[in-house]
Parts: sequence; structure tokens; C-alpha cells
Amino acid sequence: MSTLPIVLKDPRILLLGGGAVALHKARVLLDNAIDFCVIAREFCAGFDELPLVRIVKGIETADLADFALVVDATGASEVAQLLAREKQRRLLLVNAVDAPERCDFYFSALLRRGDLKVAVSSGGASPTLTQIVRDRIDRLLPAELAALTAVAGRDRQAGHSDAMALRTQAHRLLGEVLLIGCGPGAAALLTRQAYEALQLVDLVLYDHLISDEILALVPAGVKRRYVGKQKDRHSCSQEEINQLLIDHASQGLRVARLKSGDPYVFGRGAEEALCLAQQGIRVQVVPGLSSALAGPALAGIALTARGYATGFSVVSAHLAGNRFNQAWLELLHLPQHTTVVLMGLSFAAQIVEAALARQVRPDLPVAIVANATRDNQQVIVSSLAQLVEDARQACRPAVLVFGEVVRLQARLPSCGGRIPGLESQ
Ligand SMILES: C[S@@+](CC[C@H](N)C(=O)[O-])C[C@H]1O[C@@H](n2cnc3c(N)ncnc32)[C@H](O)[C@@H]1O
Repeated sequence: MSTLPIVLKDPRILLLGGGAVALHKARVLLDNAIDFCVIAREFCAGFDELPLVRIVKGIETADLADFALVVDATGASEVAQLLAREKQRRLLLVNAVDAPERCDFYFSALLRRGDLKVAVSSGGASPTLTQIVRDRIDRLLPAELAALTAVAGRDRQAGHSDAMALRTQAHRLLGEVLLIGCGPGAAALLTRQAYEALQLVDLVLYDHLISDEILALVPAGVKRRYVGKQKDRHSCSQEEINQLLIDHASQGLRVARLKSGDPYVFGRGAEEALCLAQQGIRVQVVPGLSSALAGPALAGIALTARGYATGFSVVSAHLAGNRFNQAWLELLHLPQHTTVVLMGLSFAAQIVEAALARQVRPDLPVAIVANATRDNQQVIVSSLAQLVEDARQACRPAVLVFGEVVRLQARLPSCGGRIPGLESQ
């Protein structure tokens, strides 16, 4: 069997049947502004809401006279026979719902952006599959394509289409950047949305904390580029990264910008999103599980716990230009408060010196959680007085957790990224 998807101009269709299947077809025809007539002895309740004229009667050969296209949604053998007899007499094209062997044409799964339509057909093999593929494509095509199609149509009619300009505009519309939060490292802690987003991209730009197991989830054939900025070792400046994102998205590509943890927690995600928005490039943000939350949790540190902490803060010890941020140190005086410090390990000596100078008590509990959620997760329970020495034994990356909740660490469950018994890992 060979098939050819074509676009019919102003077809007139006869729809036979008044049940749920016919109702579905009627809705599709109405959605596409198709001129059609529907005949059945009885109509189910849903038809009452549709703006169409129903002809209530049994189906006869004479009803077919004005039509070349018929959709048979009756499922009735006498209607099938009547149509077969008529087809012997003249050219009549029939779509018999759920009976591919009786079909002369199939409906495709459609999606629309104004006059732009995408039709997916499996040649009658599987309407379910065509719908799944249609829905996947649907997620990739922005609503603004409707307006662009309208403008392109008007320009063409007026005789001044500019293919180059249209190409640029279409690429601008279709290109986008996904700022994807990849969590602290374990693939099992990637969100489902992040995983699904990854399956639909053309290019991946990733940071140095993106783990190998997350990169292994990028489909084969999708280009990857490392744009990591380790302390004192930047493979790309932020300006270069912004420009790469702009350049690729402007070519119509879907670019995944992979960030560790959550993109908006000390990940410069906001900067990138603002820069892209300024250039008129679409950006979507996929939140991720921040190391500030997941790290302590898997290390047996509850950020809040009755009697120990009524709240917590997340801060960075690092400021632009590799400077030490001191602004948060007063938090260490707050009673029943936990302070999670990112990018703090290399500033351990400065933190201790500045905290002691502010009369923070030396026995304030501190934990270092390094490589959180990964196979080599490391947890060191310490105190402000001991921190400099203990920090020397710690790996990177690490979060520091200050507060009384650290005292509970020995009594709460702790593990690395692998939770025994959870098979998805
Ligand atoms: C540039 S910040 C990015 C934070 C990230 N956006 C987040 O929400 O986790 C990098 C810092 O995050 C922390 N970090 C990230 N992943 C970590 C991990 N697996 N274990 C411990 N700390 C981690 C460290 O403090 C590291 O210096």
C-alpha cells in the first residue's frame, strides 16, 4: 500500500453516525472549519453542544449523491454494504472509522498554529502512535508561528515575500534556550521534566559540576559543549557563554543549558535568562534540586527540626572577582537557625576568622557535605573552632552547614546518592 498525505481545499464531507466516534470526528471537522453534513437515526448528548445541523433519519443511497467524501462512523454492516455498492457505481472516497481495510483515505493527527498545520500519519497503522508523535511536535512549536504564517501569507499574496527575512524570523521563533537544573549529581535526582526536556534538544552546553551520569542521558547525536567555570579555571567567560546561547538559539536550535542544582540558586541562571530575553530569545527554566537542600538531607542533616531550627538561610561565601562574602556572618548569631553556605570550602579560614571576630561561639556545630548525592559523598561533622583543620580533609564541591541541627546528624539516616532498595538508581 502506498499513501500520500495531501491537503484538500474546501472539502465537503458527509459524516454518517451519531455515537461517540462520530461526535469526535464532528469536533475535528468543526475545529478545521470543514463544511460537512451529518446523518444518523439517533445522536448522543454531546452533539447538542455543537453548532451544526443534524439530519435525523436512516441512511439511504440517495443521501450520498452530493458527496465525494464520506466518513462512516456508524460501525454498521448495512451502511458498509451500501457504501460498497455506491463505490462500484462511481468515485466515492470512504473513511471507515476503526476499519482501515475499508478506508480510501485516513485522517492524520493534526496540530495547528493558525493556517500552519502539521499532519502526522501512520498510513492507518496506529492512530495512537500518530497522536503521541503529534503531541511531541506540539511541544516544540510556539504559538507565535500562527502570526508569522499570517504575515508570510499576506506578503506572498502581495508579491513581496522575502525568503531570507522569513527564515531569520522563523529561526528566531523556533530557537530557544532551556535552563535546566540538573540537581546535585545523581541521575536519580534529576526531575522528570529535566529528563524529558533533554530528549528534545539540539545542543547541550554544560557546567563543570554536571556529572557523567547526567551527561550519559543526553541522546546520542546531540552535540555537547563544555563551558565550565571552575574556580580560577574558566573554559569560557560568562559573556562568551551568553553569546553562544544567543548564536545557537538564533539559528533555530533548541539549546539546553545544563546547570548543577537549581539554575536560580547561585548558578547565574537569572543573568543568562535576562540576557536572552533582552535579545528576544525564548527561555524556559526547568527547576532542579539544589545541593543546598539535597546535600544536607542525604547527609542526615534536617535544615529545620523542632527545638533545633525554626528556619534556614542559603548563602554564598563567594562574590564576583573571587572575593569573600561576609554579609551573611551575622546569621550565625540567630538562635534556632541553620545557615547553608555554598562555595564556602575554600574560604573556610576567612569564615572562621571573621565569625570569631564577631563573637560567634567556637563550639557552633558545622558540617561539611562534599560530593553530595554522588558515590563519593563525604560528610564531616565539625565545629567553628575545628573547621579550618577539617576543611583540609574535604573534597569539592561542598556545602557547609552551620547550626544546632548538625547535632542530630548521628541520629538521622544518612547515605550517598544511592538509596538502598530504590531501583530507579
Ligand atoms: C556555582 S554554585 C551552584 C549551586 C547550584 N546551582 C545548586 O543549586 O546546587 C556551586 C556550589 O554548589 C555547591 N554544590 C553543587 N553541587 C554539589 C554537590 N554535589 N555536593 C556539594 N556541594 C555542591 C558547592 O558549594 C559548589 O561550590
